[in-house]
Amino acid sequence: MATSASLLLSCTPSSACLRQRERSHRRDVAPFRVSCRKGSGEPRQGAGKPRPESGAPLLDRRDMIIGLGGLYGAAAGPMALANPIVPPDLTKCKTAEAPTLDGKCCPPYTGTETIVDYDFPATAIRVRRAAHHVIDDEDYMAKYREAVRKMKELPADHPWNYYQQANVHCQYCNDAYDQQGTTDVPVQVHYSWIFLPWHRYYLHFYERILGKLIGDDTFTIPFWNFDNPAGMTYPQIFQELNSPLYDPERDQAHVKPDVLMDLKYTYGKTAGSGFVGQELINSNLDYIKKTFDNSLPLPELFMGEQLRAGELKENVSSGQLEVIHNSVHMWVGPPETTYHVNMGNFSTAARDSTFFSLHCNVDRLWDIYRHLRGNRLEFNDPDWLDSTFLFIDENERLVRVKLGDCVDANRLWYMYEQVSLPWLGKLPKQKKSETTDKATTQLSLTRVGEFGSAPQKLDPNTPLRVVVSRPKKSRKKSEKEEKLEVLTIKDIEVSLSEASRFDVYIATPYGDLAGPDFGEFAGSFVRLQHMMGDKLLKKMVKKTKLKLGLNKLLEDIEGAEDAEKLVVTLVPRSGDVTVGGVNIKLVETDTSTTF
Ligand code: C2O
Repeated sequence: MATSASLLLSCTPSSACLRQRERSHRRDVAPFRVSCRKGSGEPRQGAGKPRPESGAPLLDRRDMIIGLGGLYGAAAGPMALANPIVPPDLTKCKTAEAPTLDGKCCPPYTGTETIVDYDFPATAIRVRRAAHHVIDDEDYMAKYREAVRKMKELPADHPWNYYQQANVHCQYCNDAYDQQGTTDVPVQVHYSWIFLPWHRYYLHFYERILGKLIGDDTFTIPFWNFDNPAGMTYPQIFQELNSPLYDPERDQAHVKPDVLMDLKYTYGKTAGSGFVGQELINSNLDYIKKTFDNSLPLPELFMGEQLRAGELKENVSSGQLEVIHNSVHMWVGPPETTYHVNMGNFSTAARDSTFFSLHCNVDRLWDIYRHLRGNRLEFNDPDWLDSTFLFIDENERLVRVKLGDCVDANRLWYMYEQVSLPWLGKLPKQKKSETTDKATTQLSLTRVGEFGSAPQKLDPNTPLRVVVSRPKKSRKKSEKEEKLEVLTIKDIEVSLSEASRFDVYIATPYGDLAGPDFGEFAGSFVRLQHMMGDKLLKKMVKKTKLKLGLNKLLEDIEGAEDAEKLVVTLVPRSGDVTVGGVNIKLVETDTSTTF
């Protein structure tokens, strides 16, 4: 763990470092290549023979499953029931649930074209730089503008056309496709463990196409470094008028060079965290830090929960990184318009170049998460690793990619410029004044009950406060390493016709009473508006949940580790939200071996 974290922290895109990354790239080439041919269930000729161009043995998936099981022991669960997400039948694209585009976001291709398995072209290592740095690099900016201008000038039905590329996001977020073999389970790339890898591929192809359009094989998209005070305002590279990178459909109050972004932003009356200036910077850094600290032992808390083919699972929890990213979408989307286009609505978000820099940073934070975990694989599960997606590549081919091939960014031949990670160290204690129960005075204690068994609708004006029993108090260090204490808010129902948000705080009770201070911020639930045409009613009742790790958090709350119960406060911020229950459980931490 120490070596890779120090590689991460010491590595700048100097030539020495690039050599180091290139060496590690070669070393990290996975020992297996998995056949992703159509119908890989059929016996294949030549399985196990070296593949000429790579020298690595080619295995079919069944061997792979046996191989993984043999190498890593009987990893819990569904090894035997291989059920990875597969691409949809492209001939069956239908009207999307996206009133913003009249539901029209199907691509100009139908999948009758030949589908090729994609190999990552071995370019020089491409370095994605921070948006607030590239603004001073006029050569780079000229290239970036030129590439996007060319993309916008392509014929409207060219798959590389700017709006066609944006539609790809709509197709996979707004139900344009059903999963193969189903008629009502959409292919959805948000809200689960698919979120990060699918967007990594989306960025990869977008970037490669831009590079192709200007004949620059090393072109990269810049990242919006919002986890660093230097990048915590709107990236001004997208704000130059008359630039192809400009989009008027943004929150004009936020896109100014001196307005700090607020990761607790939501539309409506209680727009932000209530903090300004340095306190807002601290609040944002604290949010990022807690997200890492509390989800390092359990990737599903960071990346999203398991979702397998054919599942229209209720109660899948998004990872906290996705939640944070939702707030950024909202912060850019105009608050006053019906659908908050472009960035505030998934169907149109990728029509704003800001989208790709937001996602670059999300992707970068995943890369950092992986390094901080000693490069361990997040889910040693074939249903994740063998999921496949289709994209149009930089050679205009329809290509198939496998999720497991992108989990190590080295293999895609790019890396991120190293910038300081101010949230990694110790941060100043958060100011509490905005998280206090205003109905009670500083000294008063309130009786707070348990959640009970009936669902509760959150009252926008009154935080919901409950006491929740813990399975075990005063746990030893070794116990904490084995099991993560996880807070679950379950059976969350939201109206998808508006954006919703609530924030969660944890405090130590005084006996059965709660003090006026809500305590430490633990995490948030955030959903973008996701207006659904005639399916709206059905979708409205789809339930979801929020899971937050507590081990680290409780160390920072006086008396919490030795308390039998905790006071959990849900502060409603926007939307129409009902919650079905709150509990705390101990969950085995992830112990998968380094891949
Ligand atoms: Cu597919 Cu930022 O969302």
